Amino acid sequence: MKFFTKLAVAAGVAALLSSAAYADSLKGKTIGFSQIGSESGWRAAETSVTKQQAEKRGINLKFADAQQKQENQIKAIRGFIAQGVDAILVAPVVSTGWDAVLGEAKDAKIPVILLDRGVDASQDLYLTSVASDQVKEGKVAGDWLVKTVGDKKCNVVELQGTVGSTPAINRKKGFEEAIKGHDNIKIVRSQTGDFTRSKGKEVMEGFIKAEDGGKNICAMYAHNDDMAVGGIQAIKDAGLKPGKDVLVVSVDAVPDIFKAMVAGEANATVELTPNMAGPAFDALDAYWTSKKAPEKFIITESKLYTPNDNPQKVYDEKKGLGY
Ligand code: AHR
Repeated sequence: MKFFTKLAVAAGVAALLSSAAYADSLKGKTIGFSQIGSESGWRAAETSVTKQQAEKRGINLKFADAQQKQENQIKAIRGFIAQGVDAILVAPVVSTGWDAVLGEAKDAKIPVILLDRGVDASQDLYLTSVASDQVKEGKVAGDWLVKTVGDKKCNVVELQGTVGSTPAINRKKGFEEAIKGHDNIKIVRSQTGDFTRSKGKEVMEGFIKAEDGGKNICAMYAHNDDMAVGGIQAIKDAGLKPGKDVLVVSVDAVPDIFKAMVAGEANATVELTPNMAGPAFDALDAYWTSKKAPEKFIITESKLYTPNDNPQKVYDEKKGLGY
């Protein structure tokens, strides 16, 4: 075999070996995961996918459910630091108030990776963040509405996510950017539904009462599908047709929004993958193997789904994924 061919083969084997070693850098490691809670189907799926991804890699995952409270997340992270874990994953419930505890993890030389939400702390306090472009999500939803209603007058009611969380802040910003300049489209009411189905229903009931039994409402924009599903129930209880009398656009692409689409009760959703942990573990792998810091922001895709995308099929594909 010619010399150069031997060289190429050797390089190939080395790469494989290194990638094999690459994958093994996580085996047996202990990683703490501070999860917000289970306010939505999407978050429940993120939790189960993270556990699957950890198991696949032989990681000893320590899971902590913060019941929506930041102080519980901070307590959990301090616990992980005291236990001397190898790394920490955190889905930060709100964007402020993390500098101190992230500083403590840094002092302990424990890399921290943010999942699905951001913080306003200094970027050197975390290794990387795996999340969607939430402004883009809002923009995709708003662009869909602009295209759908044309120049027809359209009063929008908005179900916001958790106050102070980056998805709530950014999905509002992106949507407002999209409808800017389209004066026929106005957000007439906007309030938080905490990303939950029950609060989404309750707040939408209030909007309907305040807007002449819903007759003044053209569209409901929800920062996540769970609030939208709650809002759809409120629209039906008011004797109106969701998806027709009131358009429904939201974010997450959980199975139940596709069920609503099949029933003609929802019109559009922007997908958010629940697999944030896979890219996070791969980034950690690369970091521990090649000492190369990953890019600071790993952005996941935001695909729009409408009833034209075979919602029954998507429902069947997603329903078993832990939502
Ligand atoms: O941070 C992502 C958001 O958190 C999801 O869109 C929502 O369902 C969850 O509460």
